[in-house]
Amino acid sequence: MKLTGNTIVITGGTSGIGRELVGRLLERGNAVITCGRRKDRLDELKAAHPALSTYVCDVTDENQRKEFAARVASAHPAANVLVNNAGIQLKMELTRPADLAAVRREVETNLIAPVHFAMLFTPLLAKKDGAAIVNISSGLAFSPIAFMPIYCATKAAIHSLSLSLRRQTRDMGIKVYEIAPPSVDSELGHERWTKEQTSHGGMPVAEFVKGMLAALEADIAETGIGQAEGMREKREALFDAMNH
Ligand SMILES: NC(=O)c1ccc[n+]([C@@H]2O[C@H](COP(=O)([O-])OP(=O)(O)OC[C@H]3O[C@@H](n4cnc5c(N)ncnc54)[C@H](OP(=O)(O)O)[C@@H]3O)[C@@H](O)[C@H]2O)c1
Repeated sequence: MKLTGNTIVITGGTSGIGRELVGRLLERGNAVITCGRRKDRLDELKAAHPALSTYVCDVTDENQRKEFAARVASAHPAANVLVNNAGIQLKMELTRPADLAAVRREVETNLIAPVHFAMLFTPLLAKKDGAAIVNISSGLAFSPIAFMPIYCATKAAIHSLSLSLRRQTRDMGIKVYEIAPPSVDSELGHERWTKEQTSHGGMPVAEFVKGMLAALEADIAETGIGQAEGMREKREALFDAMNH
């Protein structure tokens, strides 16, 4: 995938991976459009990068997703790349009384929004030079951590979705890439941090994004980075061994 001269839509640019991607992709001569819920963060980003286009959009809201896609189509008709990045990560105890609102919020953010955005953006991206959709899954797509069961299930679904979307868009000239991050030191899951905690550790965001951009530039359809490297292959080898 070429990484210059694109018009790139990134969901969730207000922190972590999305924010770093915004800076690095602007630097490489791309037009960049991003969204998020926090207007103060978007305004801060815009002040730091005047060329950036920002929109407030809560990706859990179907109408806001449609409105965002429509605004991109009319104000940025050259858009040729979509990065489905926005995500949340909730701790959830499946043996306690159900908090279905939280389950729905996590599934809507991490899975339904990328599905809907794929549907909304494919007509705009189709047949454009360098057209691509980049989905951010996780190493946890291939082996879940039990205390965040819904998160891991949504990421396994993003992996599956990426395989199907790649097949469905191949005649439209849209390439589909999947990036599986390891633990990355962003704000993900900050809702459950203690007062003293300012980070959950993991790979520095800048190092992760450097690896991600290198994988995209090398045109690799599916890449696990850091500890997520080879996780899919290891799981498949285990399955083969057990079913030999
Ligand atoms: N960090 C890791 O360890 C890790 C590992 C594997 C995969 N990932 C994936 O990487 C992606 C980026 O996460 P991150 O680590 O950069 O986390 P982050 O620092 O928490 O950033 C998440 C971004 O998503 C946006 N977002 C969340 N809910 C949204 C909503 N309803 N509407 C619009 N935007 C929303 C947030 O913006 P607002 O809050 O302003 O709305 C923020 O910009 C996610 O898909 C995550 O699952 C991360």
